[in-house]
Amino acid sequence: MRMSQFFLPVIKETPAEAQIVSHRLMLRAGMIRQSSAGIYSWLPLGFRVLKKIEQIVREEQDAAGAQELLMPTIQPADLWRESGRYDDYGKEMLRITDRHERDMLYGPTNEELITDIFRNSIRSYRQLPRNLYHIQWKFRDEVRPRFGIMRGREFLMKDNYSFDLDIAGSRRSYNKMFVAYLRTFERMGLKAIPMEADTGPIGGDMSHEFIILADTGESEVYCHADYLDFAAPDQAVDYDGDLTPIIDHWTSRYAATDEKHDAARFEAEVPEDRRIVTRGIEVGHIFYFGTKYSEAMGATVTGPDGGDIAVEMGSYGIGVSRLVGGIIEASHDADGIIWPASVAPFQVGLINLKVGDAACDGAATDLYARLQAAGVDVLLDDTEERPGSKFATMDLIGLPWQLIVGPRGLKAGTVELKARRGGERREVSLDAAVAELAAG
Ligand SMILES: Nc1ncnc2c1ncn2[C@@H]1O[C@H](COP(=O)(O)OP(=O)(O)O)[C@@H](O)[C@H]1O
Ligand SMILES: [Mg+2]
Repeated sequence: MRMSQFFLPVIKETPAEAQIVSHRLMLRAGMIRQSSAGIYSWLPLGFRVLKKIEQIVREEQDAAGAQELLMPTIQPADLWRESGRYDDYGKEMLRITDRHERDMLYGPTNEELITDIFRNSIRSYRQLPRNLYHIQWKFRDEVRPRFGIMRGREFLMKDNYSFDLDIAGSRRSYNKMFVAYLRTFERMGLKAIPMEADTGPIGGDMSHEFIILADTGESEVYCHADYLDFAAPDQAVDYDGDLTPIIDHWTSRYAATDEKHDAARFEAEVPEDRRIVTRGIEVGHIFYFGTKYSEAMGATVTGPDGGDIAVEMGSYGIGVSRLVGGIIEASHDADGIIWPASVAPFQVGLINLKVGDAACDGAATDLYARLQAAGVDVLLDDTEERPGSKFATMDLIGLPWQLIVGPRGLKAGTVELKARRGGERREVSLDAAVAELAAG
């Protein structure tokens, strides 16, 4: 992509309305624009990141055996009357009436809709287990939307739903998602710690929030420092095998949000110098809720002995749009964003310092073509801005690599390769630059 043609409305000054760094940087880097409170447009740079995150989520869901579908944003109120949640959900639900005076709503979540799909299609225990997900916009009319896309009213969520014959099956489904989440967040360069969460009336231990540590997080969190050194399972994980050793490891230390925090246990279980008390951002939540919806809505299968059995369900959410902000909170410096390569909108920012100079233009065009041919996503700064402004913009938008083409270097046959993270710079030949960047 040529910057001269790219829609990248960067802002030099600090936007007054933004209270946290990720919101400020997303506005300044031209990633999002607010259209009304808690509702945002995703501009090209932001949208690229959103799609990268979505794709990682998708790949890890697929690897864990979940299947993707797409449910609508607008749902009929009647389904929610069946579960009893139409009245319970309260003011966070955006209620809509269509031209035939039918009550509709903009889905804040999809338990009812998926349960309806399930009950109309699955009849026998032999068709279990099932795990279905979608990545779709949600609307929750939050009282206090804030921090940009972190707590929006409209936001993109991956949500999935598991259906099992019994609790043991549910636990297997739960464990698969637990592991898939560890892998998903790790791939985005995040350290997400599973913390015990509220299970509601159902009790038990099958509810975890995945939290990344950040001063700007909304919840207070308490955990053991050992978690910072825990490694996520690698790609070779066998989802059909026994996942309990992984779950046991990742739940072996104290970790809880203020909702579930138990000061006495924290002090008893965690040595003083290993106690982390900070704030965190909830990026995912997995939850087993049993037969709550299947009983209310008649989602049953015939069991091995012919009787009807209400299926055991769980739901699993990832805040796809919130993750964009979460990653920035975890990875930035005074100059701007520092994208992990896996979610970066482009891998390389190619800066032509002297547009109009034949040698610079020639080398920049040549590098641009060769990098693209090698499959590297490049943003070529071919604008007539001053060098200082070009560097500032490139640092702000946070691409992992900068390749700087200037008249002085070219005389010696070199360009400058700068790593955004750490800021290390090296003079390299054009060929070496292409080879290194193409190798990833
Ligand atoms: N208002 C919001 N804006 C952005 N992301 C959200 C919002 N509400 C929830 N999410 C994301 O969706 C995930 C699943 O949501 P859920 O657990 O149902 O929400 P909550 O924790 O607010 O009850 C959360 O872990 C979070 O990452
Ligand atoms: Mg939650």
